[in-house]
Amino acid sequence: MTNTPILILSGKGKTGRRVVEQLDARQLPVRLASRSSEQPFDWYDENTWSGTVAGIDTAYLAPPVGPTGLAQAGKFIKQAASEGLRRVVLLSGRGVGSPGREFAVYESGLELEHAVKDSGADWTIVRPAWFMQGFSEDFMLDYVQAGEIRLSAGDGAEAWIDTNDVGDVMAAALLDERHTGETYSLSGPRTLTMAEVAAELSTATGRPIASVDLVPEQHVAEMVEYGVLREDAESVRDLFAVIRNHRSEYVSDGVQQVLGRAPRDFADWARETAKTGVWSV
Ligand SMILES: NC(=O)c1ccc[n+]([C@@H]2O[C@H](COP(=O)([O-])OP(=O)(O)OC[C@H]3O[C@@H](n4cnc5c(N)ncnc54)[C@H](OP(=O)(O)O)[C@@H]3O)[C@@H](O)[C@H]2O)c1
Repeated sequence: MTNTPILILSGKGKTGRRVVEQLDARQLPVRLASRSSEQPFDWYDENTWSGTVAGIDTAYLAPPVGPTGLAQAGKFIKQAASEGLRRVVLLSGRGVGSPGREFAVYESGLELEHAVKDSGADWTIVRPAWFMQGFSEDFMLDYVQAGEIRLSAGDGAEAWIDTNDVGDVMAAALLDERHTGETYSLSGPRTLTMAEVAAELSTATGRPIASVDLVPEQHVAEMVEYGVLREDAESVRDLFAVIRNHRSEYVSDGVQQVLGRAPRDFADWARETAKTGVWSV
């Protein structure tokens, strides 16, 4: 491991922030790249890409969510490897690569994984389940505060993972080259339906929180109204369709494999998160 900065693409996001914390704690230099970084970087504006990997060996890549953004990330990684990037740790998704995934977002995710593998750089691919922090740091936070979680997961269950566990795995992958060439699937220790998530959040907050099941198109409409790009909202709808179709009801042991410990449970995460006041109204 050289002492050149590690590039963190989307370094202010849910996972990037945690990776930066891990590297800061080890006093390792980092360079952030996103629209608000010192040198602005935009996935959708290739004019901002030049110089991003100058003096960089290793990068953490948290890509955008929709097919266009995923394709841009693939294009970027090819360019970056030709400019000297030697190693990349990619945040992918747990459903990517499973047979029978009919949705564009999975196909685009798989294409990005292939672009990373074909880039010539060494790689580690990490495929997590849905993040618990979606309810505390992202668009679902508003639902918790409003007491009504409005999604389209039906009565399907997901093995929600604590993003801190994802950050720990990413840091391990970045810092230890023995993870090169490995693909890890990560999840929390158990699956929960939306009704069970709502019950856990009610217990943690001490307030009634309901789960309202939307038909998928209503879910898209509400996300767009909230400000999400239509293409990204449609990708999220499709990711939820996989939960709705009961195809995410399994646990994955990547946290144990990489860190040698169990992942955190939803109830523990919710109890600790409630103490931060993020759900106070
Ligand atoms: N949420 C989940 O449950 C889940 C589960 C598995 C996989 N994933 C995958 O995780 C990825 C997202 O990672 P994350 O949750 O860590 O990120 P995130 O919290 O969504 O953060 C996105 C970050 O990206 C930057 N960003 C936004 N638009 C940008 C643009 N056009 N160009 C450059 N940077 C931009 C933002 O910083 P600036 O504002 O400074 O640009 C922001 O800090 C997606 O690919 C998603 O599919 C998510």
